[in-house]
Amino acid sequence: MDLIANRPSPSVQDVFADDVNPAPDLMRVESPAVGQSTDDVPIDRYFSKEWHDREVEQVWRKCWQLACRVEEIPNVGDHIIYEIVHDSLLVVRTAPDEIRAYVNSCLHRGTMLRTEAGCVQRFRCPFHSWTWKLDGTLAHIPQQWDLPDIDPDELRLPEAQVGTWGGFVFVNFDLDAEPLESYLENLPEHFAAFDLENRYKAAHVAKIMPCNWKLAMEAFVEAYHVSSAHPQVLSYYGDTNTQYDVWPGVRHVSRMISVQGVPSPSVKTTPPEKTIEEMRRDVPFFGGQPIDVAGGERARDKLAERSREKISRSTGTDLSELSDTEALDLIEYMLFPNMVPWGGQALPLTYRFRPNGDDPETSIMEIMFLFAKGPDGSHPEPAEMRMLGLDEMWSDAPELGSAAMVADQDTDNLMRIQRGLRASKKPGVTLMKYQESRIRHFHETLDAYMDADAAATHEVR
Ligand code: FES
Ligand SMILES: [Fe+2]
Repeated sequence: MDLIANRPSPSVQDVFADDVNPAPDLMRVESPAVGQSTDDVPIDRYFSKEWHDREVEQVWRKCWQLACRVEEIPNVGDHIIYEIVHDSLLVVRTAPDEIRAYVNSCLHRGTMLRTEAGCVQRFRCPFHSWTWKLDGTLAHIPQQWDLPDIDPDELRLPEAQVGTWGGFVFVNFDLDAEPLESYLENLPEHFAAFDLENRYKAAHVAKIMPCNWKLAMEAFVEAYHVSSAHPQVLSYYGDTNTQYDVWPGVRHVSRMISVQGVPSPSVKTTPPEKTIEEMRRDVPFFGGQPIDVAGGERARDKLAERSREKISRSTGTDLSELSDTEALDLIEYMLFPNMVPWGGQALPLTYRFRPNGDDPETSIMEIMFLFAKGPDGSHPEPAEMRMLGLDEMWSDAPELGSAAMVADQDTDNLMRIQRGLRASKKPGVTLMKYQESRIRHFHETLDAYMDADAAATHEVR
């Protein structure tokens, strides 16, 4: 517990102790990292092509990764294309209860079978019309007399593994990889309270980022930078008292919790009336509405109430029992290597970070909003992804609301970080022991995958 002995108070757990609707049990426990290395993390992994190429083999072709949401492919034949560096998969619903992923490359001369999402009952290559059924077996070769020795059974489309959890579809190129269920470790248990399965993708924006994919992700998994980069939130956001959890024996999952509706410990000398005034002005849940907070009352309680009312109205569900933390706070998990799903309903975000093609110095960051479905399970059409270029800002996507400004502030920094690391004469980056313990945990797992026996390379069925 040394790691948190000097953390500013109140702690997240202190705040939870006074909440009106109590936090879920698994949020009432802390698990600060134990026994992490304090060595600097070598910087070449953020720009070296050699490191990037090895990541393709050891991470992208070995780990489970998020491909899409199940509600994006509701009907048989619906498919999306999932791309990661050189690889491309057709992720397709092959039966009402079955999703499969095929290597998106024709077995004649290699043409991509599909270049965009859609719904088809056959995959027909546009070059010479070799055609496959949805189950991956060969349907037709024009003028097959000209290929008399072909064995149609050998011309099944190669596949990747597919798994689903929480309404997400995951894929894994490694046919020997552990099942998704065990890869997810404690994530399903923690998300039992949050029920992502009953959400739908209400917004989806992607942007080319001016940095390595890991730098982009690292900027979104700690709150140490908040007072420098996002000072506008400090009147209602707990940054320096954020809780960071890394569980013993858990390699792929970590968590942070930041409370809202209480000022940052770094502004606790401000008179309470002033922080409440600032909250009234800035906090999304106030919506600019006046709110009375009498002496002895906590603004957090009022905010939680207002947030519950707002979410209940928008989902048509009675959420009066929703915990204060789920109504208000930032409850952020990370699933190695590149997915960041949030719990709670205050900020129903999920991030994904990927290399931008074969370039280690740019990446694709995506922000999704997962809103609750209606009580009968109905929901609007899931949002299609809006792609922003390098020169566009997150705030060019109005569907992101107030999250856009924060992401723009981070993006400006990331451009400097990538360039600064190239200029650096210091061989490694230094990490704070507690506040950056999730980044350390990520690199420990990354190192384990990168050092694993490289002999078992990419295989397909
Ligand atoms: S390359 Fe696909 S049919 Fe020829
Ligand atoms: Fe940030």
